[in-house]
Amino acid sequence: MKVLGLSGSMRKEGNTAQLIQVILRQCKEAGIKTEFVSLAGKKILPCLGCLKCKEKKWCVIEGDDWGSIAQKVLDCDVLVIGSPTYYYNICGQLKNFIDRTYSLYHDHKLAGRKGVVVAIHASAGADRTAKTIEGFLNAHEFSSLGTVIGKGTDEGDVLSDADAVRHAEKTGDRIVRLLRPHHD
Ligand SMILES: Cc1cc2nc3c(=O)[nH]c(=O)nc-3n(C[C@H](O)[C@H](O)[C@H](O)COP(=O)(O)O)c2cc1C
Repeated sequence: MKVLGLSGSMRKEGNTAQLIQVILRQCKEAGIKTEFVSLAGKKILPCLGCLKCKEKKWCVIEGDDWGSIAQKVLDCDVLVIGSPTYYYNICGQLKNFIDRTYSLYHDHKLAGRKGVVVAIHASAGADRTAKTIEGFLNAHEFSSLGTVIGKGTDEGDVLSDADAVRHAEKTGDRIVRLLRPHHD
């Protein structure tokens, strides 16, 4: 059983990453295997809309980091996926990543996994950010374990958002109860 945290932010240690890490920490402490991946510094080319993936069942674009990260998503049981809010929606890097998962959609390759959404904003827009990611999870037939919204501008600010941190910890506990039902 594995929980994968995926931050779409271009800030490796940014608020999205830090709130995801709060959730992963709860899991790790309960002995659950976790992995964290940041899209910061990764090359993720945009979907070409070529629809060749309908036949190939995999994205035909080569020479970037999408495939290795998509494989990690395929290998996880729970995906904790987050984005900063950019203009009232998810950031472009995560959108590029998500669009290319159309290649996994045709055969329902991600169906049955569980998902948690993390959305960060400075002041407004995280609701729509969360809705966009929830749409991605729904389209791929994940079942939802909840959404955590946090507030912050500079890196690390979100750890001062006590409600968000508490909510993230509770969400981590929910994952633990799901994957390790007899854990105290
Ligand atoms: C291009 C850009 C657009 C942004 N748009 C919004 C916005 O619409 N609403 C908002 O509240 N914050 C906005 N922000 C602020 C970020 O959401 C905020 O700094 C967040 O904490 C960044 O998360 P990160 O550290 O995980 O990258 C924007 C920031 C950037 C760089």
